[in-house]
Amino acid sequence: IPSSMPPGVAFLSGQFTAENGIKKITRCGDLSGVFYDRAAWQAIPVDTPVYRVEMLRSPQGEGELFVGITHLQPGRVGDEFYMTRGHFHQRREQGEVYFGLRGTGLLLLQNEQGVARLEQISPGSVHIIPGFTAHRLINTGSEVLSALAVWPSVAGHDYAALAHGFALRVIEQDGKIQAKEVQHG
Ligand code: F6R
Ligand code: ZN
Repeated sequence: IPSSMPPGVAFLSGQFTAENGIKKITRCGDLSGVFYDRAAWQAIPVDTPVYRVEMLRSPQGEGELFVGITHLQPGRVGDEFYMTRGHFHQRREQGEVYFGLRGTGLLLLQNEQGVARLEQISPGSVHIIPGFTAHRLINTGSEVLSALAVWPSVAGHDYAALAHGFALRVIEQDGKIQAKEVQHG
């Protein structure tokens, strides 16, 4: 029967099988102010890759969806685990779905009232990020954390709203993964 082969995900590598749209690499030097230990951040070469996003080509406009995979390296800045910058959507009401592909970590979610919570992410985990909720991936494991995301193409990203950071930081302390509340002001 006439049919076409859609793009897929190779589960072992967590990568798209098809030619993709954009690929964006975020390096340590791009993440100024994201990690709390500024001296530890400065000690890491600026060109060190922290995460990479690959996206499928898809239609854009109201009602259309973007599909991307984030590959987040394992590592720490001081005692704080590598993480994505994190964002609210520009259009706050727009939600997103994350799906764990490879590696282990945490999805940090925070509402507009500043209340934060964590979900464990691992291969096969499904995460429903409601509207009005900021989100960030954190790699607490020793291998690459890869997660597929699907979100409305009109959602946009608002990074500035979290310029003062999230209310929780995830660190390694005494060999254990710990979440610490941040005191602001
Ligand atoms: C899209 C989305 C992900 C992130 C990616 C990188 O709405 O949530 O594709 O964009 O994980 O994280 P940021 O954008 O926070 O640098
Ligand atoms: Zn998002």
